[in-house]
Amino acid sequence: MANIKTIGVLTSGGDAPGMNAAIRAIVRTASAEGIRVLGVRKGYNGLMHGDMVELGARNVSDILQKGGTVLQTARCLEFKEKEGVQRGIDVARKFGLDGLVVIGGDGSFRGGRDLSNMGFPTICIPGTIDNDISCTEYCIGFDTALNTAQESVDKLRDTSGSHERCSVVEVMGHGAGYIALYVSISCGGEVCLIPEKPFDYEKDVLNPILDGKKRGKQHDIVVVSEGVCNSLELAQKIEKDTGIESRATILGHVQRGGSPTLRDRLVASQMGYEAVKAMIAGRSNRVVVMQNGIIKDIDITEGLNMPKVVDEEMIQLAKILAL
Ligand code: F6P
Repeated sequence: MANIKTIGVLTSGGDAPGMNAAIRAIVRTASAEGIRVLGVRKGYNGLMHGDMVELGARNVSDILQKGGTVLQTARCLEFKEKEGVQRGIDVARKFGLDGLVVIGGDGSFRGGRDLSNMGFPTICIPGTIDNDISCTEYCIGFDTALNTAQESVDKLRDTSGSHERCSVVEVMGHGAGYIALYVSISCGGEVCLIPEKPFDYEKDVLNPILDGKKRGKQHDIVVVSEGVCNSLELAQKIEKDTGIESRATILGHVQRGGSPTLRDRLVASQMGYEAVKAMIAGRSNRVVVMQNGIIKDIDITEGLNMPKVVDEEMIQLAKILAL
């Protein structure tokens, strides 16, 4: 058991729905154990500059259902340097922090690992809509982003059906195709393009659309993960090559907002609780993960080194169901 009296919590990188539920769980679990919590505002930037606010159990009332992060967030280049991390540690100690919980993506985890390696106990919680952290099956925010995208694609399906059009929909993902793949399967995409599988325009886009038309399809949904290609140009090319009127929609940051779904609130609550328990038990340099449906903590360096694998069966499923 570690002698922890005060801990800090910060959110870093892109915000994700459910981050507030995690903050709440951390504060309340800590309060129940007699541990004081300081909320660090604006990510590692706030840590370096001592931008902190006292968080008691009542300060986190009514945030569970809110999107975004009440602590705000930032991407901090300075924290990639050793001097930045040392400054963060010095400020954290000045404020009496005995440990820190970081909620964010794998970029934020590197900051957490560096803090731990330089002697400051840190535990990370995966929070990113991209769900692209290899050591965990689930990242806070993924489910809400999926549901937001699903709602939009369903609406696009209505209008593309009415006009017999092809609708190219670009979703977020940051180099990972999880949002695109899950949305395509769940919203009936004819084509799904993800960064993990380089595509051939004729084989993977043009032919499936033309073949689908022969089988009686009257309109198409093409789901594209951001960065794979230019969606606007793709829509124009499809229109030119197939004669099917096409439109492109980029969903963008709307996927990052909104009230978290039950799944995100629940997992965020479990992960926040787990992080504080691990800290009290004296474990640091850890990341809280979901593996085989169980929430636990593992070594952060180990976690960061795990290879990212895309589920081939899911890719197959998306193709088969497009029949
Ligand atoms: O990591 C979350 C994410 O929304 C990615 O899907 C996207 O590539 C990126 O952040 C957008 O970043 P920004 O908010 O800086 O535009």
